[in-house]
Amino acid sequence: MSRRIVITSGKGGVGKTTLLANLGSALTSLGARVLLIDLDFGLNNLDVVMGVENKIIYDILDVIMGKCRTKQALIPDENNDKLYILPTFHTFNIDQVDYEQIDKVLREIEYMFDYCLIDCPAGMDAGFNRACRLAREAIVVTTPHISAIRDADKILSVLSNYRLDSVGVVINRARGDLMISGDMIDIATISDFLHTRLLGVVPDDDQINRNLLLGGVIKQGEAYDAMGLVARAVDQGSEVIYDCTRKYKGLIGTIKRKLKRAV
Ligand SMILES: Nc1ncnc2c1ncn2[C@@H]1O[C@H](COP(=O)(O)OP(=O)(O)O)[C@@H](O)[C@H]1O
Ligand SMILES: [Mg+2]
Repeated sequence: MSRRIVITSGKGGVGKTTLLANLGSALTSLGARVLLIDLDFGLNNLDVVMGVENKIIYDILDVIMGKCRTKQALIPDENNDKLYILPTFHTFNIDQVDYEQIDKVLREIEYMFDYCLIDCPAGMDAGFNRACRLAREAIVVTTPHISAIRDADKILSVLSNYRLDSVGVVINRARGDLMISGDMIDIATISDFLHTRLLGVVPDDDQINRNLLLGGVIKQGEAYDAMGLVARAVDQGSEVIYDCTRKYKGLIGTIKRKLKRAV
């Protein structure tokens, strides 16, 4: 059976879809076969992040309505034969599908994958509930900003009502320079506050936005390295966390930090 992991957050725009796509790719580098499932029916953009929006012929609703077989809706990543995407429909009508219908679709194809990563809408409405019921594990994404951290805390307490085997946190868009200067809440403080296993830290990296224009996952840079460590934490239980402050320590680091501040 595959590991079904929902990627969720309290606040929107913290990087769930970005993490899902890049973590999925990083897991395939460790040998896993991965399915990325878009269940963010409202603001779905997994297809854009993966650069497959022009390749969608069928989506999960077509499968549910019996217009095609599940395998026909799967889109293979053109650069990675271990990575597939199950897109969602673009018309927003949340009442059209329920948990059981999606569960049935997943059960049909799960045997093909080691991981099913589920993209979830932000907040705690019906879409969130459905995505969390489908999953057996959860990753809560937050940024190092107070509003996102508070919302992550709320989501973590809501998640305790679901029967999940494990819940972890990823802190995205970390700025090591600001953490050292005390202008951003540091990782240890966030982690202590959320009181949940820290699976990883992903630095704020312009490469991610640049890559969005090209479509597809990132292939190099700091965020890429950090996503690799998150994949190891998920897949192998590794406890190595990306140190976003390292390059800003010491003499050269201090200069880098001051230069960054001056920009
Ligand atoms: N680590 C990062 N560094 C820089 N930009 C990021 C990072 N993670 C996400 N982003 C950007 O933040 C925006 C929101 O990310 P997205 O994954 O769509 O969030 P969500 O799915 O939670 O709404 C996007 O423009 C994305 O490119
Ligand atoms: Mg998203």
